[in-house]
Amino acid sequence: MLFLGIDLGTSSVKVVAMDSSGTLIGEGTAEYPLSYPKEGWAEQDPEDWWRGTVSSIKELIKTSGIGPEQITAIGFSGQMHGLVALDKDHKILLPAILWCDQRTQTECDELTEVFGFQGLGKRVANQALTGFTAPKLLWIKHTDPELFEQIEHILLPKDYIRYRLTGDFATDYSDASGMLLLDVQNKCWSNDICAYVGIKQSALPKLYESYEVTGVVSASTLEVLGLKGDILVVGGAGDQAAGAIGTGTVESGVISVTLGTSGVVFAAHDYFARDDQMRLHAFCHANGKYHTMGVMLSAASCLKWWTDTVNYDIPFDTLMSEAQNIPGYTQHVIFLPYLMGERTPYPNPDARGTFIGLSPTTTRGQMTRAILEGVAFGLKDSLDILHDMHIPIEEIRVIGGGSKSAFWLQILANILGLPVHRINTDQGGALGAAILAAVGSGAFDSVEAACLKIVRAIDPIQPKSEEIPHYKQLHYRFKSLYKALEPWF
Ligand code: XUL
Repeated sequence: MLFLGIDLGTSSVKVVAMDSSGTLIGEGTAEYPLSYPKEGWAEQDPEDWWRGTVSSIKELIKTSGIGPEQITAIGFSGQMHGLVALDKDHKILLPAILWCDQRTQTECDELTEVFGFQGLGKRVANQALTGFTAPKLLWIKHTDPELFEQIEHILLPKDYIRYRLTGDFATDYSDASGMLLLDVQNKCWSNDICAYVGIKQSALPKLYESYEVTGVVSASTLEVLGLKGDILVVGGAGDQAAGAIGTGTVESGVISVTLGTSGVVFAAHDYFARDDQMRLHAFCHANGKYHTMGVMLSAASCLKWWTDTVNYDIPFDTLMSEAQNIPGYTQHVIFLPYLMGERTPYPNPDARGTFIGLSPTTTRGQMTRAILEGVAFGLKDSLDILHDMHIPIEEIRVIGGGSKSAFWLQILANILGLPVHRINTDQGGALGAAILAAVGSGAFDSVEAACLKIVRAIDPIQPKSEEIPHYKQLHYRFKSLYKALEPWF
């Protein structure tokens, strides 16, 4: 029995195969373009996702030598919030508008005015943010009412792949939570918001838990993929929830922190929880429970900008060792990591990256270090909100490209004032997707049981107690700088 995890990302799709012991035995990947047709817009062609998925599955089968009849079930991890709209003949009506598209501020303001900030909270547990799906629908309604009238089905990105695999229109609660159309606490569509946006119930995908079977791969698709047998397809999850399954973040007290292109603080809990000010997202989790999440739009991408764009002629290791030679407690340069605007804790598409505190003696090492620290301070902001919400914080598991640097992890531990752990696998969302497929086909009793068997926290890095007070003070200054600069942004 083998389980496929399809991780539909923003720049590429990755497909992995996992056996029932949790061992990964092959993978295939394909990249696709991302287009920015106007300032602040971000679009993709869903056909590119499908072509990439087909070629990745074929590559996986070819390179791993697994037989076409060995695959039992398929799960997904998908980039969230994107809108795919289909007409009555199931044709794509317009390019998919993605999670990072910023065109809908007017529609977000409209939804907030009509329902009120807390009214949105009561109905869909979250505030209106430009990346979310409902404002995108309103945007189409305003800018092209004729096209809007033709919408017969709306889907999230991974659910378009499900449709191509099975012919079913379905989604899962974790991904649906990011549409601003789902009553997250009660796990049903919000009639009020759907009616206001003008989307009929028949256009909405059917809701499932992430580990529930939503259908089987159709005969015609089996032929396209070169596969055989009854292959189950489970709900799958939004990329953050699937990634959390891949890090074993399924119990209260366990927090996962992603140091990837974006930065995420993700807390799993058994009960529904919502921050009054809705600074964090309140979403359903892929284990059937709930989670709370803070998302920084730029994390490791700040370091990438610094190393690849500004200091492209200096080796990466040189930059990092210069930063490492600066004693933390002497640092006075602060970097605000808002290169692409920000989401948590400041939902402000116009915020920008900023260095503060430069003097004639400032070195490049201090500036590199300030970037690593600035990202960690941004993550601490989300952790502090979890703390305010009394969500237990017992163990921190760090994943993403940035977690490869022990030095960055040490800074993170010092700034969070808590030990941080790596985990025994770095497959994140793709592994989470395969685990959901395995649970859905009965190979494990529950998501928790699968995680317990497959994922382990390793390598704890302890905070250095002598640096904690200094960083507490620097974090206070970091926070006051956003407030001071907000009018300027
Ligand atoms: C989550 C989010 C990102 C996207 C793209 O809220 O916006 O994780 O799903 O990866």
